[in-house]
This record gives sequence, C-alpha cells and structure tokens, in this order.
Amino acid sequence: MSEQAQARYGIDPYLDWVKQEGLPVTEDYGLDLFKVATADWPRYGVKGGTVHMKGRGDFANMFVFEIPPGKSTTPQRHLYEEVVYVLEGSGSTQLEFSDGVKRSFEWGARSLFAIPLNARHRHFNASGRERALMVSTTNLPLVMNTFHNEAFVFASDFDFIERAGKKEYFAGEGDLITVRPGNHMWETNFVPDLAGIELKSWGDRGAGGTNIMFVLADGTMHAHISEMPVGTYKKGHRHGPSFHVMCVTGQGFSLMWYEREQDFRRIDWKHGVVLAPGDRQFHQHFNTGPRPARYLATAFGGLRYPTTSANRVSLIGAKEGDKPAVSKSVKEGGDQIEYEDQDPRIHRLWLEQMRRNNAEPKMGKFIPTPAEFLTPTAAE
Ligand SMILES: [Fe+2]
Repeated sequence: MSEQAQARYGIDPYLDWVKQEGLPVTEDYGLDLFKVATADWPRYGVKGGTVHMKGRGDFANMFVFEIPPGKSTTPQRHLYEEVVYVLEGSGSTQLEFSDGVKRSFEWGARSLFAIPLNARHRHFNASGRERALMVSTTNLPLVMNTFHNEAFVFASDFDFIERAGKKEYFAGEGDLITVRPGNHMWETNFVPDLAGIELKSWGDRGAGGTNIMFVLADGTMHAHISEMPVGTYKKGHRHGPSFHVMCVTGQGFSLMWYEREQDFRRIDWKHGVVLAPGDRQFHQHFNTGPRPARYLATAFGGLRYPTTSANRVSLIGAKEGDKPAVSKSVKEGGDQIEYEDQDPRIHRLWLEQMRRNNAEPKMGKFIPTPAEFLTPTAAE
C-alpha cells in the first residue's frame, strides 16, 4: 500500500467505486457510444460501462447500459439523478414510489427520460431479438464524493415524492414554461422522440436556430435540445464543463478550442457520438447535411436549479435583466463569438465540408462568402 493510500489522502470515492463495480471506463474528448467497452454489471444484471468525457467536470458522468434481448435490469434506487437517452432498441421503464404509486412508459430510439431522485426503477427490453442500448448522464460523482458511503447512495428509503411529477409527465406530455427565447422550458419526465419534439426560436445563437430547455423530474440535471436549419451553423461560445452533446438527427461536426490554441479539435457527428467541451473551452456546432441537425445536451445544473454560480451567469445571467453570458458577445464581456468576430478559417472549413457534401450553404446573410467559394451555380 502506498504512503498516500495509508494516510487516506487524496481519495476519490467515486473513482474507487467505479473500479469496485468492475465497470470499464472509456475516456475521450468525443467518442462513439456504440463502441464503448461494457462488461457484466452485477448490480444492474445487464452489461454496463462508464464514460468519462474529458470535459465532464467534477460533478457528472455517463453510464452505458446494454440490455440483452428479452432481459431487464434489476430494480434499483439511488440518491443521484439520472437522465437517460435511448440509443437503440425499444422497451419500457417501470417506476415505483413508496406510497405505492407506479408509473411506466414505453421508449424507443431517441427517447429521453429522467429517473426521479431515489425512485425505484427497472428497465425492460421489449425485443426478444435485439439488444437495447441506453446512455445516462448522472451526478453520481458529486453525490459519491460528498457522502462516500455506497449504502447511503443505493439503499436509502427516503422518498422525494415531490419530484414524481404529474401522471401526464410519463405519457409524453408536459408543461411549456415560457421564459424568453433560448430559455423556454418544457417540464416533463419523458420525451418519447427527441427527433419529433417542437422547438422554439432562439435568435441570439444565430442563423435561425431553435431549441428547448428541459426540466426533468424537477432535478438539477440539465438537458436541452437544439436544432440548426439546413445550410447553417451556430455561433461559437463557451461555458463551464459537464455539457455532454449528442447528435440526435442530421449530420455535422463540432469544433472545440481553448482561447490561446492555434488549432481546433474536430468531432464529426453521427447518431451515438458524444462530445463534451472542457471548462471555458470554446466550441461551435455545424450542420453540413441535407436535413436540419439536432443535438441533445445533458449536464449538471439546469435552468430551474443552476446550482453553481458559473451555471447561473452562463445560462440565466449574472443579475435580473442581464443576458445569459452564453448568448452575450465576448466583446460585451460575454461568452459568445459573433459571426463577424470568428476566426476566418472556421467559415472556410465549413464551406469546404459543405462542398464535399454537395450541400448548399445558406449563411450569406450572416457572414460574407469568400470569393473562392462564390461560383455561378453555388452563389447564395
Ligand atoms: Fe455549448
């Protein structure tokens, strides 16, 4: 035993727990969730893996669950929050609260739902032939490192009944809470299909983009979905860590770079890819396909409960009446790069990809097209 271990010094109870569970860990800036390593996870009775994105920050992680055909997870309850996104397959989830109330709902690929805090839950694969693959974003690192007691986290019988939500929240219905463009919230526990949900205009982020913020199971976990119209891309911006961005529909790519870096890290999108920009790392998302491109972002700290002051400044604004820093120009002390201020290489990089994809750029009214991209047929 090392001196450090003997002295019980510098311990990370969360990482120790992951090791003890026997879960493989996959770590990267961006990766394909269909390819992460999984192993038998006795606790859940299915295969599981842990994903530690470089940009996950201190509070959040991801679990991948692979439910074999015809199988189900063992019933669980835990004192960490969990937002689940279905990658593949179909099935159902049953929830049970200690007052005897039961809820269940049926999910398929691109469903999103949350497990209300400490609610007993069980996932069933409905198919006898195909596996179901789900990924969850959780705040277990925060919870385990705070209490460092597994029995407390997984065997507490305290009920947060106020988080159960309305019955309709498990049937694909919800309440739209209008705040302001970019911050409209859809309160629910279950979204059957992220590809189909109606989004709202978000003028500040540029180029006709739309989005909706979620409040899921009245929790502190963040989720939002955002869409870029055909032929467009969003403005670059930065914020704190833990935002896990997953491609939902369409095709495109993201760039990530720190302020003083010369080069961009590029992650190409497809269904199943996740990327997580680091703390205050600039990033930008681009549609390069013939369809609108949608992505889901999950994180620790939402609009209702930002939880950290960095999230509050970023998502809501430093004080009443302020713009969220994430949609305020860096020239005004915010965290967004306006189109006219971005590195000219960025627009060229996107135009080159658009040309390769034979896709028509529609950014001419936001940013001038360089001469070499103006051809008689491709002129905007
Ligand atoms: Fe972002």
